[in-house]
Amino acid sequence: MLSPEGESARRIDGLWWLMFWISVVVFAAVAGLMAVAIVRRRRRGPEVDASEPRWGDPFVVIAGVIVPAVILTSVLVVSARDMVAITNAGDAQLTIEVIGHMWWWEVRYPGGVETANEIHVPVGETVRFEVSSVDVIHSFWVPELAPKVDMIPGRTNVLDVRAERPGTSRGQCAEFCGLQHANMALFVVAEARAEFDPWLRNEALPAPVPGPGATAGLGILLDSSCVGCHTIRGTEASGTLGPDLTHVAARQTLAAGTIANTHENLAAWISHPQSIKPGAVMPPTDLSPQELSAVVEYLEGLT
Ligand code: CUA
Repeated sequence: MLSPEGESARRIDGLWWLMFWISVVVFAAVAGLMAVAIVRRRRRGPEVDASEPRWGDPFVVIAGVIVPAVILTSVLVVSARDMVAITNAGDAQLTIEVIGHMWWWEVRYPGGVETANEIHVPVGETVRFEVSSVDVIHSFWVPELAPKVDMIPGRTNVLDVRAERPGTSRGQCAEFCGLQHANMALFVVAEARAEFDPWLRNEALPAPVPGPGATAGLGILLDSSCVGCHTIRGTEASGTLGPDLTHVAARQTLAAGTIANTHENLAAWISHPQSIKPGAVMPPTDLSPQELSAVVEYLEGLT
């Protein structure tokens, strides 16, 4: 949150530091006055001198009412200004749908492109996110780029985001949504048009045709329970409960940021997902070691 990579995040960062320094000054003033009071009382002893002038009343009104009112009103004005600026981020060129699931992110681009858990955006352009959920309330939060926005079943919330620099920002579900809430992460990759456009064109293509070594893996996969939940565009696999796997090998992580997308992790994830992400909807897959390695080889070709 304190290393902003986008305009909205920069405003939130500014607001955070403003409130931090106000709190530091107020805390130091209160602690200082308390120390003075303690020292004075110690020096004078326990008796109260009734003839002493009561200077306390105007001080309480100033320090207890007027000063806090001025501080809180100023912060309210600044945060209202920032909220308006964040909400009206500008004309979005691209709309991306993000749909929360327990516990992963479905991502849709215009033109039937579907992916999961990794969102690419063109740098320097306003992108509109339309977020919703199919089960419980999740919250879409990419702290380096934008404020968080709740994903509510039956409702679409909108968030405009502009990444200022190329780079990858981690996002996190920010609303408790069950056992694997903490393992519901995503990545936003901001890149120049020269990289974003080819990426999107590739994502729009059907799955690459497997090479001679990987054809067996596709056959095994199509005979397995995998196809009940996953779609691989261009093949008969057309399940919709789990992430679209058409270009799964191009993604950096598996299981919504839980593990890196490596050969070993992919095999482990397919054979015993429950030991990696207990409670995940994906059941263990009953494949022999040879079948598993053929399926992994096929999936690794899906770039
Ligand atoms: Cu989804 Cu927490």
